[in-house]
Amino acid sequence: MQTIRDLSQLRRVRGALRGKVAFVPTMGALHAGHRRLMEIARENADHVIASIFVNPLQFAKNEDLSRYPRREEADAEMLADTGVTILWMPDAATMYPHGFATTVTVSGVSEGLCGASRLGHFDGVATVVAKLFGQIRPNIALFGEKDWQQLAVVRRMVIDLDLGISVIGVPTERDADGLALSSRNAYLSVEERRAAVALPQALDNAANTVMMDKPIRDAEAQAMQDLENAGFRIDYVAIVDSDLRPAKTLADADRIVAAAWIGTTRLIDNRAIKATA
Ligand code: PAF
Repeated sequence: MQTIRDLSQLRRVRGALRGKVAFVPTMGALHAGHRRLMEIARENADHVIASIFVNPLQFAKNEDLSRYPRREEADAEMLADTGVTILWMPDAATMYPHGFATTVTVSGVSEGLCGASRLGHFDGVATVVAKLFGQIRPNIALFGEKDWQQLAVVRRMVIDLDLGISVIGVPTERDADGLALSSRNAYLSVEERRAAVALPQALDNAANTVMMDKPIRDAEAQAMQDLENAGFRIDYVAIVDSDLRPAKTLADADRIVAAAWIGTTRLIDNRAIKATA
């Protein structure tokens, strides 16, 4: 694996690659969910390029940019181990040099849910992903389904801008008790970690309730109650259709999505409503 920090070197090395290139963007602090993304990338391409860049544009002023976990050495070891060809590690000056003035906004799908409580977050994500796509020019790109709305935003952007990249969503990896793997789980105390399992449990229960044709809004309310009982402060719990709008009937219910705080840590998760999804 070659670690590259300089854009002209990236262009040279990328230009010499023949065959299909898969790209997995990350912000580091890698876990088994990222390992799975790399493995699937490897299975679907001749070369895998991963990036590590903690993107300041997607953090609001009050968010956790400065405390976001950074573990470069361990991350590089894991990536080399999974067969990544190139690790792209730009710094902020390379990504956003003096005079940088472009923002990519994906309206509609980025506006509700996390977009409503993290203003500007998806502009930051879409801008950095568009920029990384331009630098790397991958054939396929892989994103975890845990960030369901992010995946929808990236898919929309790729279609709208004719980027010609196949976007693959990879199912969420979970701990044995069901908690979705996330770099932010590192913030949880032992007690918070124990309580956090209520999040996937509440979503499973609500999804099962809806699949029994019970009212959608009742299932959401029950999930919120379960989360509050476990000590969460809720940002949102919503059963949505495939465009991430509030689902009205079981037929258009596609996913239950949630974001909630346990202590000072904001966790997100989602679950398919249809057993086949
Ligand atoms: O999901 C993430 O880790 C980030 O949002 C991404 C896609 C790497 C963009 O910074």
